[in-house]
Amino acid sequence: MTEQEAKKRIDDLSREIESHNYNYYVLSQPLIDDYSFDQLLKELESLEAKFPQFASDNSPTKRVGGDITKKFTTVEHEYPMLSLSNTYSEEEIIEWENRVQKLSPTQPEYVCELKYDGVAIGIRYENGALKQAVTRGDGTKGEDVTTNVRTIKTIPLKLKGDFPEKFEIRGEIFFPLERFKLLNEQREELGEELYANPRNTASGTLKLQNSAIVADRGLDCFLYGVYGEKIIAESHSRAVEQAGEWGFKIPSYQKRMIAKCQSIDEIMEFIAHWDKERHHLPFEIDGIVIKVDRYETQENLGYTAKSPRWAIAYKFKAEQVQTELNEVTYQVGRTGAITPVANLAPVLLAGTTVKRASLHNADQIEKLDLHEGDFVYVEKGGEIIPKIVGVNLGMRKDNAVKIDFINHCPQCNTLLLRKPGEAQHYCPNYNGCAPQIKGRIEHFISRKAMDIDGLGPETIDLLFKQGLVNNYADLYELTFHDIVELERMADKSANNAIKSIKSSKDIPFESVLFAIGIRYVGETVAKKLAKHFKNIESLMNASFEDLINVDEIGEKIAQSIRLFFEDHENKQLIERLKNYGLKFEIEEAEGSSEILSGKTFVVSGVFEKVSRKELKELIEINGGKNTGSISAKTSYLIAGEKMGPAKLAKANDLGVKIINEGDFLKMINHPNA
Ligand code: IVH
Repeated sequence: MTEQEAKKRIDDLSREIESHNYNYYVLSQPLIDDYSFDQLLKELESLEAKFPQFASDNSPTKRVGGDITKKFTTVEHEYPMLSLSNTYSEEEIIEWENRVQKLSPTQPEYVCELKYDGVAIGIRYENGALKQAVTRGDGTKGEDVTTNVRTIKTIPLKLKGDFPEKFEIRGEIFFPLERFKLLNEQREELGEELYANPRNTASGTLKLQNSAIVADRGLDCFLYGVYGEKIIAESHSRAVEQAGEWGFKIPSYQKRMIAKCQSIDEIMEFIAHWDKERHHLPFEIDGIVIKVDRYETQENLGYTAKSPRWAIAYKFKAEQVQTELNEVTYQVGRTGAITPVANLAPVLLAGTTVKRASLHNADQIEKLDLHEGDFVYVEKGGEIIPKIVGVNLGMRKDNAVKIDFINHCPQCNTLLLRKPGEAQHYCPNYNGCAPQIKGRIEHFISRKAMDIDGLGPETIDLLFKQGLVNNYADLYELTFHDIVELERMADKSANNAIKSIKSSKDIPFESVLFAIGIRYVGETVAKKLAKHFKNIESLMNASFEDLINVDEIGEKIAQSIRLFFEDHENKQLIERLKNYGLKFEIEEAEGSSEILSGKTFVVSGVFEKVSRKELKELIEINGGKNTGSISAKTSYLIAGEKMGPAKLAKANDLGVKIINEGDFLKMINHPNA
């Protein structure tokens, strides 16, 4: 291939891939399947490797990230990034609209928009190519986060249509709730501290040095303003519509995410609609923005020092109540992490009775300066667990005692540890602290681990109390009599439990590896380790260096694996499990292939030819990945009978391909197809 041919092919491929990205992420209407898309991307990657002189900063290959920003440089905004005056009161919106009317010669038209709860961004384009993306900063200067913004799939790298030569577009980058949930699930699995809310996490993500992590997190962006000398539109709404034609993701009129309003009644109607409906959106909003639509009227109304007079934000009240703090108790997790919990006088909040709120860690208690018997304000935001946002100091008694974080484990009285730089306290009594031991057994038998039925937390507690089970290996010594003698245990349940313990011996190595509870070794890491080391001996003998050389195994995980296998008791447990016949090496499954490599599936409903479990196994042995919930990353939804309509609607919304079991079996050339 000559240089000229290479350049042309790189240009053509880049354009084609970006257009597929647009169809997939912005329109949710993909025109090709994932496999063909990956082929195009691979071809582009290899051409760019051979001809690096033609690899542009705006190549779609940059979407996957990888570039590191050591330090974000400060950039001055060409147009200051103003804020909005905001109010929680409907009266003030009415007053604002009255003022606007008085100052306008004719009845003004308004545009109502959602107030996205994320991070403001200004993105400059020159000759249709993304040039620079800058955070709001102090409104005059912000930080250059271009490399990270390029990984956000709904932000076009190259524009289409009739765009101005130079302009800036402003919008809000946010964390879709589904992605936020997934991120926290992954962190929970790894025993890491959870992120508090989507907005702060979006902001933190945008400032990460490694853009590959940013790409993986799945941020999204809505646009709300176009700035430039040659913006030919007459109104804000028209300019935004034009931006949609150039390839930007803009809010939908059909879904009422944006509306043109002629009167205060219509504005109020829009506010009322979203005050109720906002909880059903796949992202968070914290209010409604009302803007005067025509640019000319906007200019007549002008600006105050900080914000335009032509716009106002109505903010939704976070639902908040006051209640009494009864007591702070401390939970000990299976990893020994100590979590303080506020026990509250029961109170109704956003439709549910709240009795407890997480306090996260010692710093949080310190920050709130909590005292015994305090009256606290409880709020329910985007977080699932309500949080304490403040203390009513006016109601504190003079002699109230300050709450000090405990020094010793509430369960086994061992002195707690807190590693430098970590927020959490730990109980180091790994082998002697009851909730840690029971927690490890509960984890061992859980569905994604050894999948042992019939032993709930109460039964584990009874078995532990009676000294029948002190660790997970002891489960394999249990007899029918041991179990049936327990309180409230019927013959049938005891039988089931024994059967289930026995059949767990067939659970594959990767699940056993997950089950034994090595800190930071979640399901995914366990799979990677099993695939790489093939059996427990090689893993136990692997040095720190061997471990970090495995794809996606970092220092923290490697260290934790080493520590686990250096422990004499752990080694003994593994030896016992081996003797009971558990699987400690991988079995190359019959009919295994890599046909589905890189593809993610969601299986839902009831099937005719094969069971749901079998479908999932077929996906795995053919190199694919199973996930529980549908996201933009899902390649296929395999839909069976009686599948929930919500899942189906979501798949349709996100443009996820929906296939039946027959299609799937054909895909993997299965004999039942
Ligand atoms: S317009 C000159 N529209 O709210 C005013 N802002 O305090 C430009 N925001 O920092 C802002 N959704 O990040 C506008 N539909 C929307 C918005 C929006 C969220 C944020 C924006 C700004 C803050 C205003």
